[in-house]
Amino acid sequence: MSRGFTRRRFIVTAGAAASTFLGSSIFNLDSVWAAPVTRRNLGGMAASDPVLVSYANAIKAMRALPTSNPLSWNYQAAIHGTTLSGSNIAWNTCEHGTHFFWSWHRMYLYWFERIIRKMANDPGWALPYWDYNSPSQRSLPVPFRDSSSALYWANRGLGWNAGTTSFAGYRVDPSNGNSFLDFFDAQSHLEQTPHNNVHVDISGDMGVPDTAAIDPVFYVHHSNIDRLWNLWLAQGGGRHDPLDDSDWKNNSYTFFNESGAAVHMTACDILRCAEQLNYTYEGEPPEVKERCLRLIPFPIYYLIWQVLIHWPGPPVELNERPVSVPIDIREVRQRLMPLLESKKETLALELDNVVADRSPGASWDVYLGLPPKAEPNPESPYFVGTVSLFAAGVRSHHHGKFTPERFTFPANRAILAGLRENQEQLQVTFVPAGPLINGKPSRPKVLAPVHIGAISISVGRPQERKEGGATQRPSIEPEPKKPQ
Ligand code: C2O
Repeated sequence: MSRGFTRRRFIVTAGAAASTFLGSSIFNLDSVWAAPVTRRNLGGMAASDPVLVSYANAIKAMRALPTSNPLSWNYQAAIHGTTLSGSNIAWNTCEHGTHFFWSWHRMYLYWFERIIRKMANDPGWALPYWDYNSPSQRSLPVPFRDSSSALYWANRGLGWNAGTTSFAGYRVDPSNGNSFLDFFDAQSHLEQTPHNNVHVDISGDMGVPDTAAIDPVFYVHHSNIDRLWNLWLAQGGGRHDPLDDSDWKNNSYTFFNESGAAVHMTACDILRCAEQLNYTYEGEPPEVKERCLRLIPFPIYYLIWQVLIHWPGPPVELNERPVSVPIDIREVRQRLMPLLESKKETLALELDNVVADRSPGASWDVYLGLPPKAEPNPESPYFVGTVSLFAAGVRSHHHGKFTPERFTFPANRAILAGLRENQEQLQVTFVPAGPLINGKPSRPKVLAPVHIGAISISVGRPQERKEGGATQRPSIEPEPKKPQ
């Protein structure tokens, strides 16, 4: 499908809304043509705030509609993913672990927001965002915990609805993802942290992609993830949308507008939130104006990873107890120091072919070079990241093609600390971890173990990406056998 075609379809939709307005004013075009609406920070927002009152009213109205109606709460959630049978248009179409994670979810929220406006009869409404990285917002927003509110959802993990469970700061910190210059690198890191961590830590329906969007808190989580895209771009320094990738630009997705008609969109329709979609985020810097139709005047770089040293052992199973595997660095020791000092190259701990049969219900903090007997501490230099599986890598998540997950944790700091202690082997240590319960780290119950097929220390070098030289990196080893 050519971009011209999909773009026209999108414009036709806007035209239909215009004639509706001129005829009977079902849909107020002020909200399309006036200044952009602001998606506000949820922090400190009371349940009586008009934004949350309208959100709750719309949810009630949508829950009253039959599932077959595209404007119903169930249908909208099923667009993301559902365990309901039946094949309705656009059901089960969420994108995870692919190039389209950010773009698909931006489109999804855009049409969802328009439907909320209509159902709440509040034309200027904008979806708020949950800024959980802010220390005052680490527990579930209060209005979503009130069991008499439509914003409440009972099936959340222990303590979230009581307000006693909260995120540990490092699990919702986007700074690692933000540091990547390449769109796909940044996107996949931010998909893991904070995105997957938020799902896995809240657990319950939020913990599984096929039920997550039934919980009203899903949408304020994704509003924040969408905001992070803008914030990532606004850092500059060579960060750009992947306008050299024609699949990324032209893949078309189907949603529904507030009249219940199917609409189609591509990434080219959603590059500029304020200009094309008519919203901005409270407190964000000026919009970066990316455009599909412009020739790309800049080279786009991405990191090519090459294995430096490989854990030779069998696949590693992550379960209730911490596990460690040693990587012997004697042979590469001499090469590590110059790589650590290099401005261009960067070292990473790579985990490949990471799979689970079902949602694991837990995630694992990963350390590199943790000295024997040292207590694992995510504030220490040995901490490199978190393995948390949400959709990609989970076999029971049944739409789309199954792909094992891969993690690339920047590891310069950890390796440097290990070298300073003259370690001959760097331990790779996995420690199961969950949210904070009453402010203390918890050990979650593991519902399904995770298997890691390959572990390596790799070196990344920037390389210019050419059109068509798309970015699906080959796995370094075949997928491990499914455990019995
Ligand atoms: Cu498509 Cu946070 O999920």
